[in-house]
Amino acid sequence: MEHKWWHGKTAYQIYPKSFCDSNGDGLGDLKGIISKLDYLQSLGVDILWLSPIYPSPFVDQGYDIADYENIDPIFGNLEDFDVLMREAKARGMDVIMDLVVNHCSSEHAWFKKACADLNSEEAGYFYFVKGKDGQFPNNLRSYFGGSVWEKIPGHEDEDIYYSHYFAKEQPDLNWYNEKLREQVYKLVTFWLNKGVAGFRVDAILSIVKDLSFPDLPPDDADGMTHAAKMNARNLSQIGQFLNELKARTFAPHDSFTVGEVLTVTKESVTEFAGPNGYFSTLFDLSPRELVEANPHYRDYPNLTVDQFKECVFNTQELYQQADAFVAPIIENHDEPRGVSYYLPEHLHNAQGAKLLGTFLMFLRGIPFIYQGQEIGMTNTKFEHIDEFNDLFAKEEYRLSREEGKSEQEALALCARHGRDNARTPMLWSDEPNAGFTTGTPWLRVHQDYKTLNVKAQESDPLSPLNHYRKLIALRKDPKLHETVTYGNFERNELGAGVLSYLRTNQESGQRLLVIANTNHESLTYQVPASEACALITTGEVELQGTTLTLGCGGAAILELK
Ligand code: NOJ
Repeated sequence: MEHKWWHGKTAYQIYPKSFCDSNGDGLGDLKGIISKLDYLQSLGVDILWLSPIYPSPFVDQGYDIADYENIDPIFGNLEDFDVLMREAKARGMDVIMDLVVNHCSSEHAWFKKACADLNSEEAGYFYFVKGKDGQFPNNLRSYFGGSVWEKIPGHEDEDIYYSHYFAKEQPDLNWYNEKLREQVYKLVTFWLNKGVAGFRVDAILSIVKDLSFPDLPPDDADGMTHAAKMNARNLSQIGQFLNELKARTFAPHDSFTVGEVLTVTKESVTEFAGPNGYFSTLFDLSPRELVEANPHYRDYPNLTVDQFKECVFNTQELYQQADAFVAPIIENHDEPRGVSYYLPEHLHNAQGAKLLGTFLMFLRGIPFIYQGQEIGMTNTKFEHIDEFNDLFAKEEYRLSREEGKSEQEALALCARHGRDNARTPMLWSDEPNAGFTTGTPWLRVHQDYKTLNVKAQESDPLSPLNHYRKLIALRKDPKLHETVTYGNFERNELGAGVLSYLRTNQESGQRLLVIANTNHESLTYQVPASEACALITTGEVELQGTTLTLGCGGAAILELK
């Protein structure tokens, strides 16, 4: 594999609204992030991904952008951003932005102009489509529920609609319009000129549409089908757009780009993330994909740790075969906390967090850590639907109630699957509101913040935080770096509840074994080597010669000779 500057790095996702509030308004901001750069440096991460910080009405928490070339005042301003860039660079960290160009906000000037004049240039930036027989143009259901079609504001009496795969406040941008594409290249270049190292690219599969807007077979009793089903049908057209985007923006800057792409296949993996792919890498979202194959919370399965492992291993093999680069994750702002979601209940704790971290950090590719994951944050306990902010959770609650579920049952579904689980404030200390804000936090604070926080973990050598620090440092160790970054991945099947794989370097002969036991029962394993040495362990782990014993929750990385 051709070496790139981002290979061997570790990335960290910041959800700015919940990271650190510097001015007491209850919302995280750029000055707050700047005040925590030393912390991030001490963790050892190299690339910071900022979820959207652009001006936005926040219907979908900033993924509805009203101005692509500015900062929302709740976060600060462009000067603060420049300081953040400078201070991050001074600490050896790069910053990447969130690129959300499948849609903008209905508050964006483009959409306002488009609605005001259906013959304007801006009207061509959107999909304004005539209804079919007095009905919506087709039967697609948006990601957040309801039709993807909505009457154009100011034209409610006419038989014409705009498309929105997400909320109705997120009108889809029409990539088939050359002028729109030029606008996208301009805004990407704006941030590249500010020194950002690249982008996380949002919902990119949705930019292609079947312009005849056909109906698809329904996937639920409402007669509609999930908009994502349309993405898969039109994939062959995406190359022309993404190659152009890359050539005009990312490539000349040698940018690092990570795509949010679901349904990666043998056919598409090279195209998207191979040596000449549209992006540097793609997130491994395969566990989420398995869950979201069902349109509603009521049908979401509860994944077992073995299903999670199977997803991760399949992805590792898929990318390896294609010589492609993947970005493994445990969680992000769209998913519940991994410890609560994937592990059996007896590991919904610090030991579970350390075990998952050990499993993640030596996988092939560039790992992304989501804020709070490094201290082992679990799901937040929500007691009432009013405590949720996420529009999808609220819609699912409404639907569950409409379908006859009790308040408790509907709430339990949101509590298990809701995106707000991971969006609650970062836990810095045991001070009021976990030291996140001196004001009233925009989303409730995790119930365990008195004991589960950065400050408490700093001084505990066995804390998840210090374990993550060691893992990140180990990944960078020059003696291991080549194997961890470019080495072969091989699954090591040791039965249900055991997560294990090998990383091997064919040139040097180096072999690393990663192993974690989620079972109640302890595991004794004869490692396949004549000598073994533990590089890092957590929990109950004993290595006697080549006999390894792992207690419940124990995890280790060994070098095999
Ligand atoms: C994916 C983002 O991660 C999610 O938070 C957002 O709601 C949708 N894309 C729409 O932008």
